[in-house]
Amino acid sequence: MLTGKTILVGITGGIAAYKICELIRMYKRANANVRVICTKNALNFVTKLTLQNLSQNEVGVEEFELDEYKPEHISYADEADVMVIAPATANTISKIAHGICDNLLTSVVCAFRKPIIIAPAMNCNMWENPIIQENLHKLSSLGYKILEPDSGFLACGYEGKGRLCELEKIFKTTSELITTEKQQSSPDFVFISKVEEETSAINLAGKKVIVTAGGTIEDIDPVRYISNYSSGKMGLAIADEAHKAGAEVVLITTKDFQRDYKIVKIKSALEMQDALDEEFTTADYIFMAAAVADYRVKNVADQKIKKTSDNEFTLELIKNPDILAGLCAKRKLLMTDFGDEAPTIVGFCAETQNLIQYAQNKINQKGCDFIIANDVSRKDIGFSSDENEVYIINKNLDVKKLDKQSKTIIAKEILGEVYEQSRNLCNIG
Ligand code: PMT
Repeated sequence: MLTGKTILVGITGGIAAYKICELIRMYKRANANVRVICTKNALNFVTKLTLQNLSQNEVGVEEFELDEYKPEHISYADEADVMVIAPATANTISKIAHGICDNLLTSVVCAFRKPIIIAPAMNCNMWENPIIQENLHKLSSLGYKILEPDSGFLACGYEGKGRLCELEKIFKTTSELITTEKQQSSPDFVFISKVEEETSAINLAGKKVIVTAGGTIEDIDPVRYISNYSSGKMGLAIADEAHKAGAEVVLITTKDFQRDYKIVKIKSALEMQDALDEEFTTADYIFMAAAVADYRVKNVADQKIKKTSDNEFTLELIKNPDILAGLCAKRKLLMTDFGDEAPTIVGFCAETQNLIQYAQNKINQKGCDFIIANDVSRKDIGFSSDENEVYIINKNLDVKKLDKQSKTIIAKEILGEVYEQSRNLCNIG
């Protein structure tokens, strides 16, 4: 399957380094040419001789080998079709995010012009460190493919997120990236620079953008709640891109994000409504990417609800306000105050069937200017994934599809489209 392809495997100093021996075998079984670079620390966990035997190639560690006439980091970068860094330690991730080239591996990354997959593995507290998260976010937004670690028991004795993801996942992602049309037709595979150029035309300086993100949490009792699978990634990507375009951003979210723009942490749909009411009147754009619970528990118990001998248990729910429809109605009422400055309101639509039809119905029912529709029955897009595929629908019910790509790029394109179209469309609901 990978005949004629060269995979460059970068191994850094973590206990999961030993697992990479099997990954190399998987690539070899698929007929790939495998080249390996290690940091010096990686060799504390796996030997150069093992890696050399498995890959059937010299293993690079030092940057300046005397018997090479070409700068090594450039020749490694030129030869490979894809680079896979696994396990990637917090240290190497942070160096890459800041363009530091102080060993062979980081120098090769800096010179590499094709897809790079990063599979982090580390202690769960290191993984959660906001600095590491910010570095990963930066790399992800630059087009690096980050394969999030799994949760479970860690070699350091902790339990949490930080285990190297399954080797099958790394193998599958490598194969997909290496065989995509984009990769074949574009040898200089620079992930997002083109889109960045296109959308850098958007200048949101002086504009206020409100974004909602994450699934709302509706308490049942002090220890249980009703929620959904929204991770907040889609909303966060929109907020980040609006911030990059110069906007004043307010992100209203149920998740623990840390950014250098305003974040309002809320929990339930009612709290989200209050937060939006506070910010609404001064907004220019509102993006409702959060997954809001349609119902909440009627009587939230003060104490933990005890199990009884009954086999059935009924939870009584009442309807939450439709926040999006409410905002659109308020905008209409206050139209005279806002005049032409009324905010553009963008709803999202999460469906598992009849996506376009339901989304077109929603834009009419709710009265918003745009609906961004996505299919949440798919595992590879929508809820929690790093990628999305969406349809942008405007008030004339015109539909524009954005093909599957990272949520960062989807966010840029949504912002660009909404910005351009809202200048031409009447935005008073
Ligand atoms: O967060 P991620 O894991 O990245 O996933 C992204 C996403 C799938 C959550 C996102 O792209 C998305 O589709 N968000 C909208 C989810 C949703 O609630 O869809 P809906 O079709 O049920 O609601 C339509 C719109 O009305 C949404 O903008 C929603 O925010 C809003 N709504 C819904 C119910 C309610 N009571 N009040 C609302 O304002």
